Amino acid sequence: MAKWVKVCALTEAPRPGGVAEAEAEGIALCLANINGELSALDNWCPHRRGPLGQGWLEGELVVCPWHSWMFHAKTGVAEYPKNERVEAFPVRVDGEDVLVDIE
Ligand code: FES
Repeated sequence: MAKWVKVCALTEAPRPGGVAEAEAEGIALCLANINGELSALDNWCPHRRGPLGQGWLEGELVVCPWHSWMFHAKTGVAEYPKNERVEAFPVRVDGEDVLVDIE
């Protein structure tokens, strides 16, 4: 069952081409904005727990700021290295709020 929680106001979300850290009920998230569409990943890189929300976007890839592992912003599947991933969470905008399904 879905559990939608507010992570931030729409005005606080990253702008197109940007990423930002956020938190939902104790879960650290990396929000990304690709051409106006928001997505959310687990903030902690599986390599050495670098903060993905302090990284940057290359196309649709979130780049970890520590050693440049790359994850698809919408799926969490790694482009580099292969066979790695982070959890991806559904995102929706409800009025002025950004919600993430953390179930
Ligand atoms: S901690 Fe993310 S690439 Fe090393």
